[in-house]
Amino acid sequence: MTSVAIVTGASSGIGAATARRLAAEGFHVLAAARRAERLADLVAEITSAGGQATAVTCDITSDESVAGLAEAAAQAPGPVTLLVNNAGGARGLDPVESGSVADWQWMYDVNVLGTLRVTQALLPALEASGSGTIVVVSSTAGLGVYEGGGGYTAAKHAQTAIAGTLRLELCGRPLRVIEIDPGMVKTDEFGLVRFEGDAERAAAVYAGVPGPLVAEDVADCIAWCATRPEHVNIDRLVVRPRAQAAQHKVHRV
Ligand SMILES: NC(=O)c1ccc[n+]([C@@H]2O[C@H](COP(=O)([O-])OP(=O)(O)OC[C@H]3O[C@@H](n4cnc5c(N)ncnc54)[C@H](OP(=O)(O)O)[C@@H]3O)[C@@H](O)[C@H]2O)c1
Repeated sequence: MTSVAIVTGASSGIGAATARRLAAEGFHVLAAARRAERLADLVAEITSAGGQATAVTCDITSDESVAGLAEAAAQAPGPVTLLVNNAGGARGLDPVESGSVADWQWMYDVNVLGTLRVTQALLPALEASGSGTIVVVSSTAGLGVYEGGGGYTAAKHAQTAIAGTLRLELCGRPLRVIEIDPGMVKTDEFGLVRFEGDAERAAAVYAGVPGPLVAEDVADCIAWCATRPEHVNIDRLVVRPRAQAAQHKVHRV
């Protein structure tokens, strides 16, 4: 029977690339996000390439909406073996001194509580499959801090803490937890969301960087980790572009 993979934040960037890649790997993908039209386009694209996918409109900050995602998973045509908690993002690049409480709240709600809510809702199905994999897409911002990144690094540190804690708590059950920590990834919307639609500011982040990661690079990492034999747990995979040796050390030409 076809295994089912759930990908949150599948309407753009890393999530969309991961949905495409997992469908190519043979999963039936439940593609979840808020923007239904974009999900419909993605599902049409996957289907026309010979893959299987279903769009699930879902806001991961809503209990009710996430219950709908769990319901869609229960109706899916196979065991739910993989959950990719990818939905998330950053808002603002302000110092702690003047950062917006609303931005910090949004980042905590989506990255942290969204991951918590979706994971809680899907855990029973993942366990019932006999071999479940939970992927948490955190960030190198979950491993270190940088000026202006206080709200995002706080949220990503918390998301990283969920992955580590969950792995300890689930030990002995047929579930593994994988944390993916990308560095700089050039996706279409991450910077636009961070800078409230300011395309120039968003583009400046990647200016002159030879070969930033693209969404497909991260999808490749996720797919590789998730398709290792079930007894193999890649705890954490940190992936950066070659031009980014550290958060503060980026080569530009
Ligand atoms: N780009 C980078 O440099 C980078 C680096 C490290 C880690 N990451 C992490 O990788 C993940 C994906 O980033 P990306 O670059 O692909 O960003 P993106 O293109 O902005 O994608 C974010 C996705 O999250 C979804 N989302 C946001 N709020 C949501 C909500 N309340 N409910 C459901 N879905 C929601 C969005 O879909 P809708 O708006 O349709 O809901 C979108 O599909 C994020 O967790 C990000 O923090 C990114």
